[in-house]
Amino acid sequence: MGIGMSVPSRVVTNDDLAAKMETSHDWIVERTGIEERRWVSEGETGATLATAASQQAIERSGVDPKQIDLIIYATLSPDFFFPGTAVFVQRALGLKDIPCLDIRQQCTGFIYGLSIADAFIRSGQYKHVLLIGSEVHSTGLDISTAGRDVTVIFGDGAGAVVVGPATDDQHVILSTHLHADGTEAEILWTEYPASARHPRLTVEAMAERKHFPVMNGKKVFKHAVTRMPQAIMEGMVTNGLKLEDIDMLIPHQANLRINQMVAQMIGLPADKTHNNIMKYGNTTAASIPICMHEAVELGKIKPGNLVCLVAFGAGLTWGSAFLRY
Ligand code: UT7
Repeated sequence: MGIGMSVPSRVVTNDDLAAKMETSHDWIVERTGIEERRWVSEGETGATLATAASQQAIERSGVDPKQIDLIIYATLSPDFFFPGTAVFVQRALGLKDIPCLDIRQQCTGFIYGLSIADAFIRSGQYKHVLLIGSEVHSTGLDISTAGRDVTVIFGDGAGAVVVGPATDDQHVILSTHLHADGTEAEILWTEYPASARHPRLTVEAMAERKHFPVMNGKKVFKHAVTRMPQAIMEGMVTNGLKLEDIDMLIPHQANLRINQMVAQMIGLPADKTHNNIMKYGNTTAASIPICMHEAVELGKIKPGNLVCLVAFGAGLTWGSAFLRY
């Protein structure tokens, strides 16, 4: 019913990173497509970004904020270990007493959240769901050469949507398909701090830089270019769609090369997909609503268009959603 986004005002260029670690603008652009990203400044949090994105989404939806009856907050970077971040957004929006649900499916978080919102609305339990994807990576990255493979990729930002009951068949969620495979959970993870460790954080663990995210980039890349086309095909088969029925593909923004490969693999023309990783980097759970918001602003997605969302990320998790915007 409405979509919004918010990113920090601080722009961090590839050259800014090259001043702090052994990397270069050319390496980052060639391998990932990223030219710059936004990182928070003191005082900005996942909740403040999410609140701004939500206010825009609610305003555009035309829904009275008092009609919002559930908040779903997807993130891999909660503001605090507990409570979940959704309650801070609820407080900032002045929405008292409604349930707040934080979910943890990393880059696929927005698609999982959309599926949950869709099911709740179809069941009649909730009517207007505020779904948020919000991330602050920059306060937890290894800003040194040791962490350069991960650090150059991630950006901060938030996207939000209001989902409500469809009043016609031109504005509907047609399907969502969700998947996960935990067999290689550690190929993209942050080990510390953790309640599975005694104690949760040690000086030794920090000295070994284990509180920073680590990734086997090559493995993740291979899984992504396999699972994302599968998830798109799954949705097309379920809905009886042909490739030419898709008006716009919004893929998770992890790497421009991944997205170009996915579009090529399914045979989708380049003008039927939108990417903005160049400006924002990988904002994990926020990337799809941020990218979709931009596509709507640019007129690349119009009311009634058939839109496919697809994501792959840590867990490993992946999934797709087909909708008429
Ligand atoms: O959203 C979550 C899902 N995440 C993803 O989908 C990410 C998927 N993976 C990727 O996007 C790519 O694997 C990366 C962009 C992260 C890395 O690209 P790659 O082509 O797989 O590079 P690599 O990790 O194999 O590293 C190649 C070389 C290495 O040097 P040597 O060993 O060949 O001498 C790295 O040390 O590039 C080096 N390297 C860098 N050099 C400059 C790694 N990171 C950097 C860097 N700048 N930032």
